[in-house]
Amino acid sequence: MSLNIAIDGPVGAGKSSIASLVAQELHILHLDTGAMYRAVGLYMLRRGVDPQNEAAVSAALPGCHVDVRYVDGSQRTLLCGEDVSGLIRTPEVSQAASAISQWPAVRGEMAGMQRRIAAGCDLIMDGRDIGTNVLPDAALKVFLTADPRERARRRYEELRQKGLPDTLEEVLAALVARDEQDMRREANPLRQAEDAVLLDTTHMTIREAVDAIVRLAREV
Ligand code: DC
Repeated sequence: MSLNIAIDGPVGAGKSSIASLVAQELHILHLDTGAMYRAVGLYMLRRGVDPQNEAAVSAALPGCHVDVRYVDGSQRTLLCGEDVSGLIRTPEVSQAASAISQWPAVRGEMAGMQRRIAAGCDLIMDGRDIGTNVLPDAALKVFLTADPRERARRRYEELRQKGLPDTLEEVLAALVARDEQDMRREANPLRQAEDAVLLDTTHMTIREAVDAIVRLAREV
């Protein structure tokens, strides 16, 4: 039986950065499931498919091949064989990813692939429905959150460093809209699993959050 750790939470709670450092410390794999939904979102945008149109997204899905590879321990996300890891972090792709992730056809495919990856190794997986749907038997579940303004500030800094022009207010509005869409959808919405540990990182450094999760993981 492999060791699985599930990390869920809203936009900008630090899931991915924190999970990646926990993975390094515990010598396990990190699967960022958001990157997979982002690759599907990018595919739909490139094909001119409206991400909010369930029928159109489902019809285009058979041509959309998402895969994950590890290079020196870090995840690369492939779309139809192309490494799109650097192309999926824009605000447009974030919105498209959130929109296409509403649709059960997309979710079924992504969750199936995520479970197959988890069955073969020890890993920490981050997303929105990992503890509630993908890995309901995970040894440790953590729900990571932080105050929306603080999450927006972190996301704003990330985008600014990449030279993207969005203002803090725009980042906050997009974040709130995406959280609402992710929490209100019918299929596997974002919510805290009953047996998840709640970790509010508003006043924590990344290092403190990593240490807290590593400690919890060593106790299971
Ligand atoms: O974690 P992220 O911001 O990269 O995720 C992008 C979008 O993908 C997010 O707004 C909702 C969707 N997502 C999901 O529905 N389920 C997951 N397990 C991961 C992401």
